[in-house]
Amino acid sequence: MALLEVDSIDVSYGNVQVLWDVSLSVDRGETVALLGANGAGKTTTLKSICGDLTPTAGEVRYKDENIGGMPFEEVVEKGIAHVPEGREIFTESSIRENLELGAYVDRSGMEDQLAEVYKIFPRLEERADQRAETLSGGEQQMLAIGRGLMSDPDLLLLDEASLGLAPVLVDDVFEAIERINKQGTTVLLVEQDIYNALRVADRGYVIQTGEMTLSGTAEELAADERVKESYLGA
Ligand SMILES: Nc1ncnc2c1ncn2[C@@H]1O[C@H](COP(=O)(O)OP(=O)(O)O)[C@@H](O)[C@H]1O
Ligand SMILES: [Mg+2]
Repeated sequence: MALLEVDSIDVSYGNVQVLWDVSLSVDRGETVALLGANGAGKTTTLKSICGDLTPTAGEVRYKDENIGGMPFEEVVEKGIAHVPEGREIFTESSIRENLELGAYVDRSGMEDQLAEVYKIFPRLEERADQRAETLSGGEQQMLAIGRGLMSDPDLLLLDEASLGLAPVLVDDVFEAIERINKQGTTVLLVEQDIYNALRVADRGYVIQTGEMTLSGTAEELAADERVKESYLGA
């Protein structure tokens, strides 16, 4: 049984359908990459998993339960954390306050969970009392990921975690993703950076204009000319 199974979902914004019959699965312990050009439907797919959007057809099954259309808070309680595109951190709050916001599921376990996040991101602990706006772009991304980890998820959804970062910081983000996966969290990541994504992923999927067109192991996809073409929108 897969940890997450997206089964033939259709998704619309109002009357405009943007996903058609999209399926993917993620097994416990895996890192899976969802790749595709700008506007292909990657963010929409993640939002349909985390409860931001409700599919008009198909199912989103997590631990064998249909969570499609379940409210966001309940999805977090089930064990899924979503780190949205664009980070959405509170720049005038401290780093610690930003992290605490991610822990609303179980405040009693908050200190333990903070310690776990600080183990993965020591820089956040060093600067815990500083305002988040004092962090570099890369550190703000670490903070956004750290906030997601505060709910102690089994499955972490990452939307364009490396977008807009300098190359050296991109490496830091992907190293962090590998550490998070090694300590037991399953990861589904959406990326523009196909090379790095396929370097850390076990398997991947390619989505083109709202439809899944390719899937395979990271090695298979990295060697596939169609991956580069679809990424470029050709
Ligand atoms: N809030 C929205 N309202 C209407 N259309 C949207 C909205 N968000 C995204 N779309 C459209 O849905 C399609 C998929 O977008 P998105 O999932 O954001 O793609 P990606 O994350 O792969 O760049 C695009 O055609 C985009 O214009
Ligand atoms: Mg997107």
